[in-house]
Amino acid sequence: MNKRIPLIAGNWKMNKTVGETVELVTQLKQKLSDVRNREILVCPPFTSLVVAKEVIKNSNIKLGAQNMYFEKSGAFTGEISPLMLKDIGCEYVIIGHSERRQYFGETDESVHKKMRVAFENGLFPIVCVGETLQQREQNETFSVIERQVRIGLTGLTGEEPKILVIAYEPVWAIGTGKTATPQQAEEVHAFIRKLYSEIYGKDAAESVRILYGGSVKPDNFSEIMRQPNIDGGLVGGASLKADDFIKLVRY
Ligand code: PGA
Repeated sequence: MNKRIPLIAGNWKMNKTVGETVELVTQLKQKLSDVRNREILVCPPFTSLVVAKEVIKNSNIKLGAQNMYFEKSGAFTGEISPLMLKDIGCEYVIIGHSERRQYFGETDESVHKKMRVAFENGLFPIVCVGETLQQREQNETFSVIERQVRIGLTGLTGEEPKILVIAYEPVWAIGTGKTATPQQAEEVHAFIRKLYSEIYGKDAAESVRILYGGSVKPDNFSEIMRQPNIDGGLVGGASLKADDFIKLVRY
């Protein structure tokens, strides 16, 4: 029996000023207030987190950050700590997004450190994995994902393996308009869940939510969500427009 609550998460990336943030979250709050059976998450840029929290407090919309550093405080110019995110009301943090891996040198090892520190500070990590086009064409998809899961997601204890969120985002589908077919996505999601079961056991594998990300749009999402191992979406472009994001939440 599948008791996993669908999670629809908006990854705004480097978009929206404070004014634009207020406008978007105000609309989401008004138009999604009746939604009960899904978890709704917005992840604005750091500069908009505080104001977004102000607008969505006492609503069914949760707040997440797009990244963080793995130390609590100190001489790390330009970085943001888990403590700071927790302090302003973030519940989730995205870790190891492919753009962080590609442009900012994140590795499976740094992903692992950040995931650990997120848990230690009471944040739920959403850890991203996914293969590039070249890796897919060279039939390396499963070996790449396996490495990212085994190294990045190692060392979880207690309830952590159950409450972790994984996002499968094929790099070739992000921002390109090329969505993975529901079957392509499901194949990898099933693979991740099986692998996870080997590492953390059946219970954990049945509880962990695995989101799909990569050109999710209102017209392709319901088919994606019909797949048994897909538990939600990590949405970039389509999370920036209230109407689109609302449709996605109500898929
Ligand atoms: P996209 O981005 O929906 O714009 O493809 C998804 C993501 O990178 O999380």
